[in-house]
Amino acid sequence: MTTHSIRTIGITTGGGDCPGLNAVIRAVVKSAILKYGWRVTGIQDGFDGLIWPERSRELTLADVSGILPRGGTILGTTNRGNPFKYTTMENGAEVAHDFSQRVFANARELGLDALVVVGGDGTQKIALQLQRGGINVVGVPKTIDNDLSATEVSFGFDTALHTATDAIDKIHTTAESHHRIMVVEVMGRDTGWIALEAGISGGAHVILIPEIPFTLANICRFVERRSNSGKRFTIIVLAEGAALPPDMEGDSSIDRRSMPRSGVIGPLLGQALGKVLKREVRVTVLGHIQRGGTPSPFDRILSTRFGVAAVDLIARGEFGKMVCLRQARMHVADLAEAVTQKRVDPGSEMVLTAKGVGVSFGDS
Ligand code: F6P
Repeated sequence: MTTHSIRTIGITTGGGDCPGLNAVIRAVVKSAILKYGWRVTGIQDGFDGLIWPERSRELTLADVSGILPRGGTILGTTNRGNPFKYTTMENGAEVAHDFSQRVFANARELGLDALVVVGGDGTQKIALQLQRGGINVVGVPKTIDNDLSATEVSFGFDTALHTATDAIDKIHTTAESHHRIMVVEVMGRDTGWIALEAGISGGAHVILIPEIPFTLANICRFVERRSNSGKRFTIIVLAEGAALPPDMEGDSSIDRRSMPRSGVIGPLLGQALGKVLKREVRVTVLGHIQRGGTPSPFDRILSTRFGVAAVDLIARGEFGKMVCLRQARMHVADLAEAVTQKRVDPGSEMVLTAKGVGVSFGDS
């Protein structure tokens, strides 16, 4: 397919909302219209908008005016709508439907010559299936978790880091004044990128992530050592996806069915620390505030670069690909590669840097 044969492209945002989604939508719409003269159709609520195409609408320059700094997505999103396995509740039980043929037919009906899919690994996995089924897909990597291996950074991560760092800075005040142990639980799903980088930028004393196994005993020893040296407060930044340490696993009050999930491990660890150390411990779960608000300048720029690059990929007829950032430049990855997860390497320079300034990962 050449630039000349493209008339209409679609764009959809899937998975959790994330700062910078609107900046991508704006960039795609502007560059598709201004640079190539294409029409853009906004697909509402992730792939749901292809199951129910009456929810779709044309996006004009006027529609994207003023949305650059806005959080969320003007197209709506969902992290549940997999058209290949769409679950509904019927008579109290979950039933899975395969709506994929409907999606392919609707994409043709809408006249979509290509589809920009903005999302994390779950969304891009579905995008890959759509590509294999005949829709011309181009992906844009979105996630505050920064866990997509194809790109050094996904948009949304920087804003989440700003939010988490700001929160840790504020927690410092109370920790120091009240001589408390403060646990700050951050998001990241089953990776520790937000915890690691916000922990370093916020000056945390302990950083606990899924990639580095830790024990309660090691954390307690570290806190005691700090106390003995006159530091009466400790800030612990904990990733929501961190596994329960082996010396807490015997606790029969723990309901493992809800793990890992935001707001579960933080309170559990806080309680255990309070019991062992006999000190005041407070837990703050940052939760969804990390996904909200206006994108940082870095994320606005990255989202804009991704959006323009995605449209250029379509113009070059390169489908089944995702735009990404490598060594500060725009690159292209195969969608198949794009869906693999990136985890923190315990031996990486970033972890060693944290250790270099005395941060404990609870592993020794
Ligand atoms: O992937 C983004 C993310 O915010 C994760 O960090 C978190 O585990 C998950 O989404 C929470 O999803 P939900 O909004 O469905 O609770």
